[in-house]
Amino acid sequence: MNRRTRVGIIGAGPAGLMLSLLLSTEGIDSLVLESRSREEVETTIRAGVLEQGTVDLLTEMGLGERMKREGALHHGIELRFDGEGHRIDFYELANGRAITLYPQHEVLKDLIAARLNQGGHILFNVNDVQLYDVSSSQPRLRFVHENEQIELHCDFIAGCDGFHGVARSSIPEAKQQVFTRSYPFGWLGILMEAPPSAKELIYTYSERGFALVSTRSPELQRLYIQCDPNDDIANWSDAMILEELQLRLATRDNWKLLVGPIIQKSILAMRSFVIEPMQYGRLFLAGDAAHIVPPTGAKGLNLAVADVRHLARALTMFYKQNQTHLLEAYSTTCLRRVWRAEHFSWWMTSMLHRFPDDDAFQQRMQRAQLDYTVRSRVAATSLAENYVGLPFDW
Ligand code: FAD
Ligand code: DHB
Repeated sequence: MNRRTRVGIIGAGPAGLMLSLLLSTEGIDSLVLESRSREEVETTIRAGVLEQGTVDLLTEMGLGERMKREGALHHGIELRFDGEGHRIDFYELANGRAITLYPQHEVLKDLIAARLNQGGHILFNVNDVQLYDVSSSQPRLRFVHENEQIELHCDFIAGCDGFHGVARSSIPEAKQQVFTRSYPFGWLGILMEAPPSAKELIYTYSERGFALVSTRSPELQRLYIQCDPNDDIANWSDAMILEELQLRLATRDNWKLLVGPIIQKSILAMRSFVIEPMQYGRLFLAGDAAHIVPPTGAKGLNLAVADVRHLARALTMFYKQNQTHLLEAYSTTCLRRVWRAEHFSWWMTSMLHRFPDDDAFQQRMQRAQLDYTVRSRVAATSLAENYVGLPFDW
C-alpha cells in the first residue's frame, strides 16, 4: 500500500510526538511511526526534570493543565558533600526561572492524547522501518504495520527514533563526524513507595559514589546511585540498595531517608554522544537519535524538545514562505545548544561521581570544584542558568 504525508516521523518519544503536534498547529501534515506499543511508550520510566522552556512550550501547546496540577515546581536543588547540604537557589540566581518535576511518560500520555484528539495518526507496533532516497526531494519510508507492507512518500523525514534507532545510519559515513565518551560507571535507579524525604532534588558526592534523591509524586520517589555499569541488577537486593543510599546520603545532622517498598529497579549505562551534522538531504535527526548526554544534568528530554521546536519552525518557514534558510541552519542552530548541554552534563558528572582510577589529588579537585560552586555566587549562577535551561534561541 502507498501512503503520502509531508513529514514522516520515526519514533513516538518526546521528539517525534512533539514535532507532529507543533506541525499540526501550523496545518502541516505528518505521520508518526513507532515500533513499540502505545502501552509500553506510556509506561516506560525515564526522565523527570522539565526545564522552564519545556514547560512554557507545553503550556503554549495547551498541555499545561495536568502538568501544573500533578507536577511539582522546584525553585532550587541541593548539592550535598562532606555530610552537608548546600542549596542552589534557582529563583534568585536564574531570574525567577524554575524546573518542574513531571515524569516523561506523563508528558508522552498528554502528547499522544492531544495528537489523537486532533484526528492525527500515530502508528504503533510498526516493524522494519527503512529509509530510501533521503538525499532526493521525495524521500520514502517503508515499513510493516498490521502485516501490511506500506510505502510512505514524504517531503521530509524526521529521525526521532532515539539512540538505538535506524535513521542515523542513513547518513553516509563520509558525511558525518561522531563524538563519544563512555563513563566508567552507571546509575542504578529505583522507584520506591514512600513519602518525599526532601522538598528539592539532592545531588550527592560521597566517598562511596554519587547518589541522587528525586521524586515522582507525594507517594512515589525516584532515587539513583552510581554503580558498576556492567553490574547485574540481580546482584542488588532491596536491602543493599537502601543501605547504600543511606550511607551515601548521610549528613552530620542525621538527615533521614524515608523508605518503603522498592517497586522497580534497573541499571543504565552513561555516555556522551553527538553526531554532526544533524541533517543529511531531507533527513533531519532530533533528540537522542543525534545526541546523548549522561543524565546528571537532566538535559536529554529538554534537548529533544529544543531540537523539534527549531525543526517545526524551519519546516513552517519552508511550507508557508517557501524559504529554506532555517532548514539549512537547523544543524548549526541545534548544535550550539547541544554542545552547551554536553559540557554541562559532563561537568556535573565529573564533579559528582567517584572515578575508579581517581587518586587523592583528583578527589581534592572535585571537592574544590564543589566548594567553589556552592560558595561563589558566580559559580552557583552558572549552574543555575544551565540547569533551568538557556533560552531556546540562545
Ligand atoms: P526516545 O525517548 O528514545 O524515543 C524514541 C522512540 O523511537 C522510542 O519510542 C522508540 O521505541 C522509537 N523507535 C526506536 N527505533 C525505532 C524504529 N526503528 N522504528 C520505529 N520507532 C523506533 N532527560 C531529561 O531531560 N531530564 C531527566 O531528568 C532525564 N532523566 C533520565 C533518566 C533516565 C533513567 C533515562 C534513561 C533518561 C533520562 N533522560 C532525562 C533522557 C531522556 O529520557 C531522553 O533524552 C529522551 O527520551 C529523548 O527523547 P527522544 O524522543 O529523542 O527519544
Ligand atoms: C531525574 C533524572 C535525572 O537524570 C536527574 O538529573 C534528575 C532527576 C529523575 O528521574 O527524576
